[in-house]
Amino acid sequence: MKISDAERDALYKVIHSRRDVRKDFIPTPIPNAVLERILNAGHHAPSVGFMQPWDFVLVTEEQTKLAIKKGYEAASLESADKFSDDKKAEYQSFKLEGILEAPLGICVTCDRERNGPVVIGRTIKPEMDLYSTVCAIQNMWLAARAENIGLGWVSIIHDDILRDTLGIPSNIEIVAYLCLGYVSKFQQKPELEEFGWLPRGDITQLIHKEKWSTKT
Ligand SMILES: Cc1cc2nc3c(=O)[nH]c(=O)nc-3n(C[C@H](O)[C@H](O)[C@H](O)COP(=O)(O)O)c2cc1C
Repeated sequence: MKISDAERDALYKVIHSRRDVRKDFIPTPIPNAVLERILNAGHHAPSVGFMQPWDFVLVTEEQTKLAIKKGYEAASLESADKFSDDKKAEYQSFKLEGILEAPLGICVTCDRERNGPVVIGRTIKPEMDLYSTVCAIQNMWLAARAENIGLGWVSIIHDDILRDTLGIPSNIEIVAYLCLGYVSKFQQKPELEEFGWLPRGDITQLIHKEKWSTKT
């Protein structure tokens, strides 16, 4: 099967217009068929030894979201103290989650024991199962954008909050809590770039030919 030029262009459009979304969510629920396509995109990610170590916990109940938001708030306070004084106020001005506004939360996990103790490709670097789960998340992120659905990754929360709130067993690794929903608009640039926190790096400085070269 050959990809047409128009299909190629559509893929790059999705890649470049994907954003981490924390605001501008609208309450319109995500239809089941759309959600199934997004989850199926995750499930078709590459995985080490075809391990498919992921699970997806879907969160729609207000009470559950409130417990997760409380966990975020505590972790955010704790995090603010890690920044230098001049950066702390700026950090605190950012909106870094959309837990209550997004109609759907998805906790993505990794079962590190799935398909037995010896998995092709994981014999030397066992962390490959976690990377596989992140591949699933990226597939979901791009699929969501193609569906005009915003997705935001919330990592400022302790795992035990998600584990207790969602009843995730202790042998299952928590990889991400994602907030998904339709949006009033997609931002053109990452907010952290827009607000001058960090610029996008120059890709030419990141490409090394044949051997690692220290760039000036
Ligand atoms: C592993 C990972 C964790 C992240 N955690 C958070 C988070 O807790 N809160 C947040 O607002 N954004 C989070 N982000 C989003 C990044 O800030 C965002 O991807 C980056 O600023 C670039 O913006 P863009 O995704 O819109 O291109 C996370 C992204 C990744 C890949």
